[in-house]
Amino acid sequence: MQWAKIGASAAALAIAAAAQAEPPRLVRQGSATQISVQGKPMLLIAGELGNSSASSAAYMAQHWKRLKAMHLNTVLAPVSWELIEPEEGRFDFSSVDALIRDARANDLKLVILWFGAWKNSMSTYVPAWVKRDQGRFPRARLPNGQGVEILSAMAPATLEADQRAFAALMAHIKAVDDRQNTVLMTQVENEIGMLPVARDYGALADAAFKAPVPAELTTYLQQHRDVLVPQMKRLWEEQGSRTSGTWSEVFGPGHAAEEIFTAWHYARFADALARASKAVYPMPLYVNVALNRPGRLPGEYPSGGPLPHLIDIWKAGAPAIDFLAPDIYFPNFVDIVNIYKRPDNPLFVPEANNADHPQVPGNAFYAIGKLDAIGFGPFSIESIDEKPGALGEAYDLLEQLSPHILAAQGVGRMSAFRPKSLYDETLVHEPVTETIGNYRFTVAFADIQKPVATPDTGNAAGIIIQTGPEDYLIAGQGITVTFAPVGAGPSLAGIDSAWEGHFDAHGTWIAGRLLNGDQTHQGRHIQLPTGDFQIQKVRLYRYQ
Ligand code: DGJ
Repeated sequence: MQWAKIGASAAALAIAAAAQAEPPRLVRQGSATQISVQGKPMLLIAGELGNSSASSAAYMAQHWKRLKAMHLNTVLAPVSWELIEPEEGRFDFSSVDALIRDARANDLKLVILWFGAWKNSMSTYVPAWVKRDQGRFPRARLPNGQGVEILSAMAPATLEADQRAFAALMAHIKAVDDRQNTVLMTQVENEIGMLPVARDYGALADAAFKAPVPAELTTYLQQHRDVLVPQMKRLWEEQGSRTSGTWSEVFGPGHAAEEIFTAWHYARFADALARASKAVYPMPLYVNVALNRPGRLPGEYPSGGPLPHLIDIWKAGAPAIDFLAPDIYFPNFVDIVNIYKRPDNPLFVPEANNADHPQVPGNAFYAIGKLDAIGFGPFSIESIDEKPGALGEAYDLLEQLSPHILAAQGVGRMSAFRPKSLYDETLVHEPVTETIGNYRFTVAFADIQKPVATPDTGNAAGIIIQTGPEDYLIAGQGITVTFAPVGAGPSLAGIDSAWEGHFDAHGTWIAGRLLNGDQTHQGRHIQLPTGDFQIQKVRLYRYQ
């Protein structure tokens, strides 16, 4: 195997490509998808701003430096339709320009969140000229005919207006940013979904609900029968795997058909926005999802978003959207990210708890190191930038490790570890064993002498990256790692050397203490103490 020389060659490439005018793009590396910015892969060590912060450059002025000091390289920031098109056809991009200017001044990248027709289901960020013209931009309606503050996805005028504004935003970003690529990608709308019922009951929606299911959807179901999400496959097959018929005929008489109908129309809307904007400036686009609590009905949660049971509908309806991204505020982070990481869907986590939640660092490590995530961002990042605590330390490690993580994603040289939390917050903290290269690692989250969970156990975070045949970077906090050789040869593994240290700004390893005594329990294991995020450079060897 060729072991990558990290640093110099990638930097040279980046400089050579810097003058090219092209948007960032998604590229494959083995089984991973990465974002390539000016010819160089980038790991998004990110955080999402609270909803209102980016509407004021003056408010944000105090935060940029602190976000950078917290080791973020990317900020997720809303751009709202009402601010960029205050009167129909008159665009004002000053809020976007200020964001780009201030991000650049602080050496940060941006992911833009398009607060267009919908933000958390509702239509509160649309311009007043849209809000007030219910004739041209009809509302979704309840079964009793009452309107809700949600634009109907069925109205061509709404799609046209949102599409025009979104494409104008992309044209502006292209004009001001196609050489610098401060803007890396864009989220289309925010947490789409119908409330408080499963579907829109307006006249257009009622007519469409009685019409046949579009052939594009039934063809997709047929062509992907073997890989459909189990819930979708069961539902479709229970109705006889029909390839034509109304929504209730193909998907059954209950709420499920109404929710699938809703998902299809939201997906088509998002796809139309994506197509219009990619024609102007083809940067990566994604849609985020407000997850549903188990046992609730569609409408009690935002119905029809790209939820786990609706991924197939969104993939069929929105092929121009590059990926679907989960916002995760539930404790079962591990289960959720494993659903969204699919061969047709790279993982990106735009929101994952509020930034001060103690499990955020472990979640970041797991998403990036185990599931090759493009990036990770907790919510309300600026609310902790004065006292970043554990997240600042975790992001420091991810920043230092970034070139090694990027080189290892998708090629089987890395894994990451955190105890698994179930939906009811039960912690599964048994040790986890995985083979990475020529050694099998067992990672324990509680003290291996006394394996009883403490209040800190759930916050453990670990990542192991193979950098040579017997060389590994082991980083994080609150884990103990033992190892065994795999394959033929001597059956025991020992520590040749274990150094603590850090990577400097040029990516050069600066060694600290050599850890051959109590810190490795006299060579028995690698230990990353609880509460102390650190990197150890470890060389293993085999003996009989
Ligand atoms: C999820 C939304 O996407 C965010 O915009 C924000 O409203 C958070 N919820 C608040 O927790």
